[in-house]
Amino acid sequence: MKVSGKVIVVTGAGNGMGREISLNLLNKGAKVIGLDINMEGLKKTQELAGEKGDNMKLMQLDITNREAVEQTAEEAIKQFGAVDGIINNAGIIQDFIPVNKMEYRTIERVMNINFYGTLYIVKSFLPHLLTRPKAHIVNVSSMGAFAPVPGQTFYGASKAAVRAMTEGLMGELMDTNVEVSEVFPGAVATDIQVHSGVKNAKSVSDYSEDQIKNANSSITLPSEAAEIIVSGMEAGKWKIIVGSDCKKMDLLMRIAPKFGMKKLAEAMKKLNAI
Ligand SMILES: NC(=O)c1ccc[n+]([C@@H]2O[C@H](COP(=O)([O-])OP(=O)(O)OC[C@H]3O[C@@H](n4cnc5c(N)ncnc54)[C@H](O)[C@@H]3O)[C@@H](O)[C@H]2O)c1
Repeated sequence: MKVSGKVIVVTGAGNGMGREISLNLLNKGAKVIGLDINMEGLKKTQELAGEKGDNMKLMQLDITNREAVEQTAEEAIKQFGAVDGIINNAGIIQDFIPVNKMEYRTIERVMNINFYGTLYIVKSFLPHLLTRPKAHIVNVSSMGAFAPVPGQTFYGASKAAVRAMTEGLMGELMDTNVEVSEVFPGAVATDIQVHSGVKNAKSVSDYSEDQIKNANSSITLPSEAAEIIVSGMEAGKWKIIVGSDCKKMDLLMRIAPKFGMKKLAEAMKKLNAI
């Protein structure tokens, strides 16, 4: 679905990839409803959009609150007259803790934001999307959904749940006006670790884009990720892979999954991550 002239909801629009996705959509002529738990972040996104920020509406929302999501969806549709697309991008990672030591409340938080938050947004907007001439759902999963990173087991499980739900939706909506895409990013240079409350997390804002790329040539910048996601959506791709690291891992986990898991476990051990 071409985004120009369309109204697109973006969750997690107050930072990282969600911010860049919003800016990219605005530059391509879309109207954006930015949802985030962090209002300051949303305001910053709007400010960065300059004049195009007039085409962005900000709504503070905790996507884990089902009633609030339903009310926000109703309000958003009423205010704009219609919504043509949703990009479920908001998400967190977990602290690098193995299953054995992980507390249930942390597991629930990860599942609530990444899986249930995405589910609530989908369920709240889908009846309306089905009434549009064309509509699109984009759900952001992760490389972690198919490549298990030790210390990120519940993050991976939540993103695998997003993947399974998204693929279920693809099947169910195949003969309708609603297109569905799933996104698998590899490493993207955002402050997700800081925002997720990971201990000793370093902020990417302390480094220039060149420094980030020099330190890790396979990392993707949030603006690059946004362009891959929005152009993938416009091209009607059902599976959007972000980053050369994710492309390689996708192949490896198909041809030699046990070897891939071993390599990931060794890498995490080397980093002393858990
Ligand atoms: N950065 C990466 O390396 C990477 C890799 C794979 C997948 N992803 C996925 O991409 C998506 C975006 O990640 P990012 O790196 O831009 O992270 P980020 O932390 O920069 O941005 C996430 C945004 O989501 C918002 N958010 C968090 N909890 C929320 C809630 N309960 N309700 C509403 N908003 C909430 C935050 O306030 C923040 O603005 C996430 O789903 C993440 O899992 C990121």
